[in-house]
Amino acid sequence: MDIPAFHLDFMGNRLLIAIIAILHVLINHSLAVGLIPLVVLLERLGYKLQNPDWDELARKIMFFAFIITTSLGAMTGVGIWLSASLANPYSIGSLIRVFYWAWFTEWVVFVTEVVLILIYFLTWRRSNLSKEAKAKHIKIGSSLAIFSWITMAIIVAILGFMMDPGNWMTDRSLLNGVFNPIYLPQLAFRTPVAMLMAGTVALFLTFLFTKKDTTFRTEAIHYVGMWILAWFFPACIGAIWYYTVIPDVMVNNFNVAIGTQAFQDWLDSFKYVGAIAFFSIALTVGYLLFKRGKTSIIPTMLPVLTIFSLLLVFERTREFIRKPYVIGKYMYSNAYRPEEYALLNKEGILKYATYVSTNEVTTENKLEAGKNVFMLACSRCHTSNGINSVMNKFELMYGKGKPLEIESMVGYMKGMHNARNYMPPFPGNTKEMEALAAYIKSLQDYPDPLEGAQENGVSISPTQTTKGGFAK
Ligand code: HEC
Repeated sequence: MDIPAFHLDFMGNRLLIAIIAILHVLINHSLAVGLIPLVVLLERLGYKLQNPDWDELARKIMFFAFIITTSLGAMTGVGIWLSASLANPYSIGSLIRVFYWAWFTEWVVFVTEVVLILIYFLTWRRSNLSKEAKAKHIKIGSSLAIFSWITMAIIVAILGFMMDPGNWMTDRSLLNGVFNPIYLPQLAFRTPVAMLMAGTVALFLTFLFTKKDTTFRTEAIHYVGMWILAWFFPACIGAIWYYTVIPDVMVNNFNVAIGTQAFQDWLDSFKYVGAIAFFSIALTVGYLLFKRGKTSIIPTMLPVLTIFSLLLVFERTREFIRKPYVIGKYMYSNAYRPEEYALLNKEGILKYATYVSTNEVTTENKLEAGKNVFMLACSRCHTSNGINSVMNKFELMYGKGKPLEIESMVGYMKGMHNARNYMPPFPGNTKEMEALAAYIKSLQDYPDPLEGAQENGVSISPTQTTKGGFAK
C-alpha cells in the first residue's frame, strides 16, 4: 500500500470500519429506507379514517427516526468515508474512479433526502390544520421514502461490485460496474429486509407510544404486524436469489466469516440457528396478531433484537467472504493488484514503496525492514499484538510460547494464500519474507505496539529524491 499507513494496533483497522459501517447500515435500513414508507402509510391511514390517533402515532415514530437518522445516522455515514479512506485509500480511490457519477448522484439524492426529512418532520403539526395541507404532507413523505430508497439502491451497486465486478473486468464502464452480477439480487434482498427491520422497530415503538388496554393499541399492533408479515416472504426470496449469485469461492469462506477460525466448525449449526431466529420473528408477530388485546413488552422487543443481530452477522459475513480481495478479482485487501505481483515478487515491495524507512532488506536493517513489510503486506488485516495479531496466529500454529522459527514461517508465507484462501499471496520477495518473519519473531520478546503514520509521522524511502522519482 503506497501511502503513509494509518494503523490501529490494538483493535485493527478493519474493526474501526466495521463498527461505524454496521451501525450505519442498521440505522439506514431500519429507520430510513424501511421506516419512512411505513410512517407515511400510518399517516395516510389516519387521514383516510380521519382518526388523529394514527397521525399521532406516525408522528411520534417519525420523531424517533428523525432524531437518530439526522444525528447518528448522518455521522456514521460520513464516518464510513473517513474510516475507509484511512484504512484503505487505494481501494476507495479505485471505487471513486469507477463510480464517480454514481456517487455524485447519490450525494445529490442524499442532500434532497435531508431537505425532505427536515420539511416532512418539521411541518407535521402544521399539516394537521387543513385537509389540503395534510394531503401535501403525505406527498412529501412519499417522496422522502423514494429518495431514501434510491440512496441505498446506489450504494448497494458499489457493495455488489466489491464482491464481484463481473463484466467490468473486461469492459470498464460505469454501467458494467453498476450492473454487476450481485447488484440486483442484493437489492432484492436488502429492500424487504429494510422494510422488515422497520416493521420490528415500529412494533416496539407502537407498544411504547400507545396506551395500555386500548383498542387503538390492538389495531395499531395488528397493522404493523401485518406489514412485517407481508415483507417476510419477499425477504426469503431475496435471500435465496442473493445466495445463488455469490461465487463459490466466497461460499467456501463462510465458515470463518461468521465467527473466527476458532468457531468454524459451528457453521452448520449456525445456519440452523440463523434460520430459526429469522422464522421466530414471524412466529412472534403471528402470536401477537393471534392473541390480540393484552400484550407485554417482551414479544414486541424480541423481533427487533433478533433481526438486528442477524443483520450484524450478515454484514460481517458479506465483508469477510470477498477476501482476499477488497474489490473482487481486481484488488487484494492489502491494496496490491494481482497484475503487480510478478514484478513485486521478483524485486520486492520495499523498492517500490514511497513511505517506508528502508527500501531494501540488509543484515543491519532486517527488523526495521520486516516491520515495513508487515505494514505494507499484512497490516490491513492483522495487528502486531492486538486483535487478530500476526504473532499470535503463528504461535497458535506452532505452539504457544515456543520460539518461532524463521524457516517454517517463510515456508508458510510462500503458500499462505493456499493455506488460507482468504489471505492474498505474499506480495514481496523471499528476502522480505525472511525480514518479516524475523520481525514477527522479535515480537515474542519485545511486543511493542506498532504505531501507524498518525502517531509516528511519515518516513520517505531513501530511494526517493526530494524532487520525486527514483534516485538510483
Ligand atoms: C485479507 C486480509 C489478510 C491479509 C492481508 C493477511 N491476513 Fe493473515 N489472516 C487473515 C485472517 C482473517 C486470518 C484468520 C483469523 C481467524 O479467524 O483466526 C488470518 C490468519 C493468519 C495466520 C494463521 C493461519 C492459520 O492457519 O491458523 C497466519 C500465520 C497469518 N494470517 C499470517 C499473515 C501474514 C504474515 C500476512 C502478511 C504477509 C497476512 N497474514 C496477511 C487475514 C489476512
